[in-house]
Amino acid sequence: MKTIKVLFVCLGNICRSPTAEGVCQKMIAERGLESRFDIDSAGTSGWHIGQGPDPRTVAAAAERGYDLSPLRGRQAVPEDFECYDYILAMDESNLSDLNSIAPVHHNAKVDLFLEYGSSDTYREVPDPYHGGDRGFELVLDLIEDACTGFLDKALSK
Ligand code: 4NP
Repeated sequence: MKTIKVLFVCLGNICRSPTAEGVCQKMIAERGLESRFDIDSAGTSGWHIGQGPDPRTVAAAAERGYDLSPLRGRQAVPEDFECYDYILAMDESNLSDLNSIAPVHHNAKVDLFLEYGSSDTYREVPDPYHGGDRGFELVLDLIEDACTGFLDKALSK
């Protein structure tokens, strides 16, 4: 069976997209689906290449049992559109930046990640970088919800 390749993308690759990577990876492991999925994350910017996730992100995720500490930042590149099945953006700005580097022809499904979530209030995962701690909890709430919806949808294809 073909591996489903998924890339989560935010601006810095130190808050939202590593959280999505860690949450999704853990849900996949809990369902015993490691062989079905290949998960990664990236930033539209190159500001934090090689850096670990923001310490506030790592701490909030650890409270819920996700270990983000091994992850390192990288920048999304046009080649990602050739090798990922899904490229999932945290907000509209990320989506627009992704579309601006996308090759003319590719087969990746490029979506706002929260299209797979159940929230009527949020279409985007709000950037928590300049906000308070509640921002990190909200990021986790929205990402846990959308990950569940995404895995169900991707497996039903
Ligand atoms: P992220 O958050 O896109 O969720 O990783 C941010 C991280 C860093 C910056 C902005 C947003 N920054 O301005 O450095």
